[in-house]
Amino acid sequence: MTEPAMTAEFDDVAGWTADAVEQLGEGYAIPAACRGSANPAALAWLAEACELRAGTRLLDVGAGIGGPAAWAAERFGVRPVLLEPMPAACRAAARLFGLPVIAADGRRIPLRAGSVDAVWCLGVLDTVADKAALLREIHRVLRPGAPLGLLAVVARSPRALPAPEGNLFPTRRRLASLLDGTGFDLVEQTGLPGGVPLSWSRRAEQVAAVVAAGHAADRAHALAARQAESLTRLFASGQISMRLVHAAKRPVPCAR
Ligand SMILES: C[S@@+](CC[C@H](N)C(=O)[O-])C[C@H]1O[C@@H](n2cnc3c(N)ncnc32)[C@H](O)[C@@H]1O
Repeated sequence: MTEPAMTAEFDDVAGWTADAVEQLGEGYAIPAACRGSANPAALAWLAEACELRAGTRLLDVGAGIGGPAAWAAERFGVRPVLLEPMPAACRAAARLFGLPVIAADGRRIPLRAGSVDAVWCLGVLDTVADKAALLREIHRVLRPGAPLGLLAVVARSPRALPAPEGNLFPTRRRLASLLDGTGFDLVEQTGLPGGVPLSWSRRAEQVAAVVAAGHAADRAHALAARQAESLTRLFASGQISMRLVHAAKRPVPCAR
């Protein structure tokens, strides 16, 4: 994932977002730092499906600037660890939430096998070409039977799409087969619950406005905006949609 547009979207804008939150106040941090869906109902569905509770060691793979993990810590008392490859996003997450952040690629997670109680991976799969490698590595670090919560952008058909740079959307069928082939049972899935409350959307928009005011002339800002417009067009035309998925690491069958 080295395309300039993705670096702009996931690294430059991440740092600017943290600056804007610091300017506006900490109440803006979680809504602005949920960059996969910015939807508290979706996070609640994933948290309940994964049965998160106080003390759960939750690894957020491709955590961005940490909004979902911070939300899960605040609402469910989990102990999150963030993993994110983009350096400015890692620094932004540490600045905004003070959570532990591992700067690494999800295809090579520097954690012991079976050391994690639950994994979230939100809005990440479509940005990774080798999705099986990412899922296999998540499988390795999870303890047997443990939950994986995914927010996945899926394509309606396997035909090639005019996708934003670096994005490759699996179909629902392909996603199910990827999970199965990497050792996960697909427990349940649903569409994205609608209705983002104004308390979130207004804050996220205000942060975006401060970022735009400071960086509209910047090439990275234009590149990130082009990525977002391209995604919005595909969602509006129904060619892609979001799925929430609860999967579980398949228990190893007992030897007789
Ligand atoms: C759409 S953002 C979602 C961020 C965050 N999960 C959220 O919901 O707010 C996608 C994130 O995936 C990260 N990413 C892309 N490729 C990755 C990889 N190979 N391993 C881990 N993270 C990756 C990007 O850097 C970016 O932060």
